[in-house]
Amino acid sequence: MKVNGTPYRSIWFDDASGVVQIIDQRWLPYEFRIADLVTLEEFATAIRDMWVRGAPLIGATAAWGVAGEMARDASDAALDKAHAVLGATRPTAINLLWALDRMRAALRPLPEADRAGAAHRLAREIADEDVEINRMIGVHGLELIRQIAARKPAGEPVRLLTHCNAGWIATVDWGTATSPMYQAHDAGIPLHVWVDETRPRNQGALTSWELGSHGVPHTYITDNAGGHLMQHGLVDMVITGTDRTTRRGDVCNKIGTYLKALAARDNGVPFYVALPSPTIDWTVDDGVAEIPIEDRPEREVTHVQGTAVGGGIGVVQVTPEGTSGGNPAFDVTPNRLVTGLITERGVCEASPEGLAALFHERAFASG
Ligand code: MRU
Repeated sequence: MKVNGTPYRSIWFDDASGVVQIIDQRWLPYEFRIADLVTLEEFATAIRDMWVRGAPLIGATAAWGVAGEMARDASDAALDKAHAVLGATRPTAINLLWALDRMRAALRPLPEADRAGAAHRLAREIADEDVEINRMIGVHGLELIRQIAARKPAGEPVRLLTHCNAGWIATVDWGTATSPMYQAHDAGIPLHVWVDETRPRNQGALTSWELGSHGVPHTYITDNAGGHLMQHGLVDMVITGTDRTTRRGDVCNKIGTYLKALAARDNGVPFYVALPSPTIDWTVDDGVAEIPIEDRPEREVTHVQGTAVGGGIGVVQVTPEGTSGGNPAFDVTPNRLVTGLITERGVCEASPEGLAALFHERAFASG
């Protein structure tokens, strides 16, 4: 997508300097900065400390991290170390292990001399695939938005609600939940997006930055406002992303997603999840019992970053000195609360049968 008229991806290999570059999300939405990632430790830090974030982008970054390591040392030991170091950065988004396993499985059988080139090509392929997957999620999600628009008086906007940032900077491009929004907006369908702030880290501000850059009308709301808006008929559809979806369609996503799904069910609002297939964990059934939930630093809850009135990025403490903060970063929405999953292959029911019908080869490969 474009930033000030220039097309960007969230991560890319810069041929001129020979290094991987990222949009450094620590500074968004206040400043647009690009960072180089070179060493394995830098890649790990970038994922752990959320210079990059969002399940698909975490996976792509890990793939490039392995490629970087293979260019320095293509031994089996280095491959295993890269897998272990990067795999330990964040526990919830399955795209991380998906990308690392795919890299290792492809590289291990190769002679060491061939590994650096192959790793570079595969990391590029994983990134390019992500772009195409998300574009197709947008194609299928657009049809759902079009159906809602067709039931409304001409010119009245379709009102969507989203949580967290499942936007283009959470992926390599397009985003998952935002891809249908961008494509609907580009198709001339009037939209209005309610953007949950998404405490504690306020990823909603990233979504607002994205939607604003693309000209999509939106309003930034507190996390607590969604239920009220739904009760008053002001939300036509919820679309969120996911960090891991089980084979029966339980959806793990940013903390607070479950509460939106409950409110949506109580108010008859369709609750859709944009799901790229690398985010499906085919080894897990019961999301609540089986998905590890990341516990992040309490400082993310007790402190908030923003721009000071008058300028300058700063951090303020919002709690009394000594207050402890609890920070579970994700929650699980059981499949019964999910209206449908928007995948790159089409929209399906959040059920074992629904997913298996679209991803027959994966569903049956893992038994
Ligand atoms: O902690 P984050 O910001 O990495 O969490 C991101 C989310 O929860 C997204 O909704 C999810 O990764 C999907 S991104 C397309």
